[in-house]
Amino acid sequence: MRSCTIFRAIMASYRALCRLHLRGQGSFMTCVQKAHICVSRSVGTKVVATQAEDSGKDEREEKAGPKSLSAFLVERQEQAERSVLISCHPKTSEKKFLKYLSRHGDIKKHFFYDSYGTYAVVEFSTQDGVRSLLDAAVIPSVSHESAVPFKSRLLSLRTTGAVNQSDQQPGLQCRPQSTVPISELIQTLARQETVDQQIMCLTQAYQLTEENSRLRFLVCSLLKDIAAAYFPECTVKPFGSSVNGFGKLGCDLDMFLDLDDISGRDVQTPKSSLSVEYQMKRATSERAVTQSILSVIGECVDQFGPGCVGVQKILNARCPLVRFSHQPSGFQCDLTVNNRVALKSTELLYLYGLLDRRVRLLVFSVRCWARAHSLTSSIPGAWVTNFSLTVMVLFFLQRRSPPIIPPLDHLRQLAGPADRSVIEGNDCTFVSDFSKIQLQTNTETLEQLLNDFFEFYSTFPFGKMSINIRKGKEQNKPEVAPLHIQNPFETSLNVSKNVNSSQLERFVALCRESAWLLQQRDAPPAGAADGTPPAWGLATLLLPSQVGGVKSRRKRKREPASERIKSLLESLKSKNSPKNS
Ligand code: GTP
Ligand code: MG
Repeated sequence: MRSCTIFRAIMASYRALCRLHLRGQGSFMTCVQKAHICVSRSVGTKVVATQAEDSGKDEREEKAGPKSLSAFLVERQEQAERSVLISCHPKTSEKKFLKYLSRHGDIKKHFFYDSYGTYAVVEFSTQDGVRSLLDAAVIPSVSHESAVPFKSRLLSLRTTGAVNQSDQQPGLQCRPQSTVPISELIQTLARQETVDQQIMCLTQAYQLTEENSRLRFLVCSLLKDIAAAYFPECTVKPFGSSVNGFGKLGCDLDMFLDLDDISGRDVQTPKSSLSVEYQMKRATSERAVTQSILSVIGECVDQFGPGCVGVQKILNARCPLVRFSHQPSGFQCDLTVNNRVALKSTELLYLYGLLDRRVRLLVFSVRCWARAHSLTSSIPGAWVTNFSLTVMVLFFLQRRSPPIIPPLDHLRQLAGPADRSVIEGNDCTFVSDFSKIQLQTNTETLEQLLNDFFEFYSTFPFGKMSINIRKGKEQNKPEVAPLHIQNPFETSLNVSKNVNSSQLERFVALCRESAWLLQQRDAPPAGAADGTPPAWGLATLLLPSQVGGVKSRRKRKREPASERIKSLLESLKSKNSPKNS
């Protein structure tokens, strides 16, 4: 049995390496080492520190172990409340910009990025800095149009007289907020020496950065300011891949408007014989309340929200939402109300992602592979979602021998009284204290796991069985959907109900092809004459697939495949339906 102490030791050594790097010591600038440092950078264990005081904080975090999701949310929300978003000219002098802002308060952190123009995120040490800056801000003078007088923390830097934007001046250093193109990623991966290195490199290139995570919380905080016009005590919290540790740069921003503090969920019984209560308008159901709140907030975002465009109110969905683009950040946003089960799923994924570093690394590789082959899409449809795909990876890791992560039922048994959570009749209880979770010793490499993931799902009996991370075992399918993945908390639901059989067939065919491809080379090939290394290992898996057009790939010269893989290829050619496998 391996305890969480080992996990903490690994995390501590990552941070120690990182601090060494920040001090400019050592020469561990290889991609793999950077990836080791960065694999945990945007989740609860903050690694990339740009301010001196953060190093002391890292020491404290090492002792305390990984941060719980709720602690991480509180910290980031608090930072966001002290932050402003400022549009500025790309040739602005950073020095003058900071000097001007410092008049309003100490600046704790700032960074610039590009999204339909150049923006700065500026975090003040206290909210007084924000207030002072907002007091100094003026209403724009528009000659042909009229401005909606809604003041927010989204500002524009006006440059008059004193600040020169000379062309000689170097442009602002902008932090990237999007991923490198896949072709570039494939080249980088091809240069690595092992598949494990490739997987770490991919994660490093695609995961959310510290800055991107801050920007996501800032957008939530700006949304909260709009909703607060109606519900002053509300909060807007991010959930899903923005915070679960599996987010890729450019992923959507899922938010929920939390009205629990005002909805009377935790009502206290009055102590005195007399008490007063609010008179409130009644609706026929919770869903009707949610729809009316979202309808009004959606209208408000549309009419008054600076930078919010393309607002759609999707109120008849199973989970009603308002969808819009937040132009200054470039995020596609989905706003829901009191979506507490989704927050629990997010917390569960976050916890699994921190239990063993291979979880995140494998999820990133599989998500990226699925996207490269259009198995997933940002448009809703009959394809598998990233959430379902993540649950499939977790299930696979529970099925290893020995298992890499425990089933949800085991996490439920370890829960204490404070972890108890029942939402709309669904038991969402699981342990939050990482130190209570004992992991078994499994030393499998990432390469082995990636290969076995593809083999596992190449032969999974989708026709009969359901994927169940609560039990950590496949169960008989309760319904006839092509793919059945039990919702971890609303256990009567299938999270992949939308997937049709042709999408599942493509998934299985691609798993077979990928397992086969991964076994083609034991070692990376020699570099090509023009210096461009040929794709191999994980890089090959991201190239356009030949599934449905196997011929051209078959033309290429290959080493002989193992008997097992040959039979897999045979079954691919015979186009067996996954229902029969
Ligand atoms: P990407 O946005 O594709 O990067 O991944 P995501 O994990 O954020 O998925 P998505 O935006 O589709 O959903 C946001 C979150 O809602 C997920 O992380 C889950 O926590 C939750 N969620 C999504 N689909 C389901 C579902 O079918 N059932 C349940 N219980 N939760 C879901
Ligand atoms: Mg999402």
